[in-house]
Amino acid sequence: MTLMNDVSFRQMMEDDLEGADELRRLVGWNQTLGDWRRFLTLSPDGCFVATKNRILLGTVTSITYDQTLSWIGMMLVHPEHRRQGIGRQLMGQVLTYLQGRGAKCIKLDATPLGFHLYEQLGFIPEWTLTRWQGQGNTHTPPLSGPSNVARNLRDADWEAVQEIDKSALGVSRGSLVRSLALNSRRVLVWPSEGRVAGWGLLRAGTNADYLGPLVCCENDGASALVRELLVSAGNRLVFWDVPDGNEAATSAVQQCGFTPVRPLTRMRLGPPIVKSDPQAQFAIADPSAG
Ligand SMILES: CC(C)(COP(=O)(O)OP(=O)(O)OC[C@H]1O[C@@H](n2cnc3c(N)ncnc32)[C@H](O)[C@@H]1OP(=O)(O)O)[C@@H](O)C(=O)NCCC(=O)NCCS
Repeated sequence: MTLMNDVSFRQMMEDDLEGADELRRLVGWNQTLGDWRRFLTLSPDGCFVATKNRILLGTVTSITYDQTLSWIGMMLVHPEHRRQGIGRQLMGQVLTYLQGRGAKCIKLDATPLGFHLYEQLGFIPEWTLTRWQGQGNTHTPPLSGPSNVARNLRDADWEAVQEIDKSALGVSRGSLVRSLALNSRRVLVWPSEGRVAGWGLLRAGTNADYLGPLVCCENDGASALVRELLVSAGNRLVFWDVPDGNEAATSAVQQCGFTPVRPLTRMRLGPPIVKSDPQAQFAIADPSAG
């Protein structure tokens, strides 16, 4: 445990999750208590909190994929306790932990508020993405391409789905995507020429349904998956995070009547050893998970 002006820093525990979710609620993020639980389950030693008089003031999570790529997320400091160095200390805790375990490459999706802090710590921008918001099926026009071939994921599809996810992110993150799929409203695959060529899911968030991850090497298939998933969202609000460099996805999100909400910057610390492909990512999994 580290101390700074009565603020303590330590690993996150199960008992912290309600307080962590209250911090999330204060900043209006879309994750759920289930998302916090997933971070802690997948990375029991890699999540940290800042507390003062047992009150939770800050959080940060990390997950390591394939022993190669570590992802930092859920970096939150209570609005009344910002600009006192708590964010920097939390980053120090998680970076010390990750580097102590031999992390080779560390990434995160930075909000404009976090960007400067990460830059000071040596992170460099890789590419930008945009959070879009829109309605479920209300504004979903027929998209080009075959729309009737997306089908529900079956157990036998998992090997192909994990390979597809790996081809887009550059590392395997099977535990994460399986856990996301288990807690989703709908998980679809897009078969093409006798194989699974893409997949995507829609899950519930606190403020809106969340579309993603959605990865497909064929744009027609990606459009078909989007269309089917948006139908599953009914009239609910939907968030969809799109890499700006993915022109097909940016065009699809606009065709669906979505509007941009906020920018994010994907940042990296360490050598560029993980080759991710924004062109293959129609929707990311979550800014806190990649
Ligand atoms: C981003 C965030 C986590 C930063 O937390 P924080 O505790 O305010 O961060 P720090 O105090 O360590 O650093 C923030 C700034 O305060 C400055 N600062 C640090 N200690 C200070 C002090 N004692 N007095 C005045 N300023 C101070 C830092 O130099 C830094 O300045 P900069 O904005 O010019 O870089 C916080 O703003 C937040 O929770 N934002 C909402 C959620 C979010 O966007 N999270 C980032 C996700 S990627």
